[in-house]
Amino acid sequence: LEKEMKNFQVTMGHIEGVPLLGATCDEWDTIYNFQAREDDILIATYPKAGTTWMQEIVDLILQEGDVQKSMRAPCYVKVPFIDLVPMKPMPTGVELAQRMASPRILKTHLPINLLPPSFWEKNVKVVYVARNAKDCMVSYYYFQKINKGLPDPGTWDNYFSAFLSGDVPWGSWFDHVLGWWKAVDKHQILFVFYEDMIKDPMHEIQKVMKFLGKDLSDEVLENIKFHTSFQAMKENPMTNYSTLPNIVFDQTISPFMRKGIVGDWKTHFLVAQNIIFDEEYKKKMEGSGLNFHSEL
Ligand code: A3P
Repeated sequence: LEKEMKNFQVTMGHIEGVPLLGATCDEWDTIYNFQAREDDILIATYPKAGTTWMQEIVDLILQEGDVQKSMRAPCYVKVPFIDLVPMKPMPTGVELAQRMASPRILKTHLPINLLPPSFWEKNVKVVYVARNAKDCMVSYYYFQKINKGLPDPGTWDNYFSAFLSGDVPWGSWFDHVLGWWKAVDKHQILFVFYEDMIKDPMHEIQKVMKFLGKDLSDEVLENIKFHTSFQAMKENPMTNYSTLPNIVFDQTISPFMRKGIVGDWKTHFLVAQNIIFDEEYKKKMEGSGLNFHSEL
């Protein structure tokens, strides 16, 4: 892996105008033709919206709160990331998923227009997690620093502009959330907000449980809430990505489980940036009916 990593160059490409990792673009036909199964559960997010958190919640619901079972493998093994093509010899997300017995939990960061059509043909249930753009931006900035499979984010100043213009892997935050939001009535999509999960985790866990057609006791639900708390997931080697070596995820720069709060953008956004951001936000989001909380 070390040798592979030394020769590894992050490249970017585009599919229908959306910036995606070069390796993903190279395998695009395979990814787009992915065969979903009707009992799959798809977790769809813009990067850094709380994907890993939702993965644990969904898995623990399916395992009926059995923590031992939920710790059978690291989160990136038990939940295949279908649009990811990591460096060899690691298997691609599609390969991992194909080998997996049903029911599968799958992950994607794809904007809705690029989702493999078989998910709709099979009427798969999708849990979409959305997080306010400002906190997503800050979280993504640190993540692009630590994840050596993503382009270096450069300075915060440069990153601010890149994120706002959608020039980051998986493209524009605006296009992503608006695209998925507009599809809520057309498909089986549960739209969940990260900020609601922070405010009232039990309420959101129950919502997910009902959406998945499960009925669990309060005791089991309490257990799920406990094991999916920020602190528990930060300490859990199966969820904190500590199983990946530093040459892949350099957590000496910043931990994967970084802060897990709402409003950290306030310690990063300059006053002028906030004004620019709010103007752009209004233009893009006005009339969408989609309302985020960027502070609690
Ligand atoms: P921060 O960088 O703001 O701390 P993703 O899984 O989509 O990559 O998202 C990662 C973000 O979700 C990180 O945000 C991480 O700390 C946060 N997160 C992960 N698990 C969490 C939990 N159980 N509770 C709250 N936040 C969590």
